[in-house]
Amino acid sequence: MQFDKYKKKTFSKDWNNFEKQSKYSSGFAYFLKKTKNFFYKILGFKISLKIIKYNEFKNEEFNSYQIDKDIIIYRNRLANETIKNFLLKFNINSKKTEIINFINQYQKLFYNSPIKDLRSGYGYNEGLILYCTLKKIKPTLVVESGVMKGFSTYIIHHATSNDCKIFCYDINFDNLIFKSNKAQYFNHDITLNHPNFKNHNSFALWDDHTSHLNRLKFSLKHKIKYNIFDDDLGFTNFHSDGWPPIPSLAMLYEIRDKVITKDEVEWICRNKKGKIWLSNFSSDKSINNIKYYHNFPNLFSISGYKNNSCSSFVMTN
Ligand SMILES: C[S@@+](CC[C@H](N)C(=O)[O-])C[C@H]1O[C@@H](n2cnc3c(N)ncnc32)[C@H](O)[C@@H]1O
Repeated sequence: MQFDKYKKKTFSKDWNNFEKQSKYSSGFAYFLKKTKNFFYKILGFKISLKIIKYNEFKNEEFNSYQIDKDIIIYRNRLANETIKNFLLKFNINSKKTEIINFINQYQKLFYNSPIKDLRSGYGYNEGLILYCTLKKIKPTLVVESGVMKGFSTYIIHHATSNDCKIFCYDINFDNLIFKSNKAQYFNHDITLNHPNFKNHNSFALWDDHTSHLNRLKFSLKHKIKYNIFDDDLGFTNFHSDGWPPIPSLAMLYEIRDKVITKDEVEWICRNKKGKIWLSNFSSDKSINNIKYYHNFPNLFSISGYKNNSCSSFVMTN
């Protein structure tokens, strides 16, 4: 066993890591850490102080990943099975190794993403399912409502053909980092001005925290066959979102199944109380026009990355 010159946390004869000295072992970061500990001991509370360069934050996906070729092949086989079975629920068939090719393409795409801070948007897992789904359904028209930095646009841009029309809507483009040269951008709600969906194989990504019911009605009206609804939180977990898309599809199914039969529901999110008036929409029958509805699978056990959100893939009649 070797002497631990970098004060590693554990010793093991079976594994070793941390080839470099911890960033907290010297310099200004070390000084900050000591200062924080000092104040914690003296004052009894922690001061959280972080100095990060603008745009320096990177999701852990960009600094923790597998590099062993055999494990990657095994992992891709597992992801292939999971995604293939997920798409099969929508009657979308895939050849044996077709999804593996998409996974390999996505892998390169993901690590070259111009957006490395994936907080508040799609992450590795959702992006992978979005990529494979688009590769399979080959849409000719895509609408994306809720663009933010443009990570999901980046995936849509690369997963679709060059002549696929992309329409991106957001009420605030201040955070935009990736701009697709295939896309047209609109700084308003899609209901104000929308593309002509006629004769198109259309797909929509609804990630704008706006009522899923309203977005579903829009989809049904314009015959958008394929839809992904992000933040599809139900009655037990919607408090986790500061601005849930009430009523979400999950909630509408829970109402239909009479899991929730009340007229009003209150909850607390980040110390603020909210209230839902369920009677406003509980008799709506729009979800009956959904042909297939399934939540994205949780890929954590395969990718090692937590899902960023709850997305559902929906095919309308
Ligand atoms: C969660 S972010 C989108 C993240 C993005 N889809 C991704 O995964 O990279 C939500 C975005 O929806 C936008 N938004 C809010 N209301 C909207 C509306 N009515 N129409 C379109 N976008 C809206 C917000 O400005 C915000 O940029």
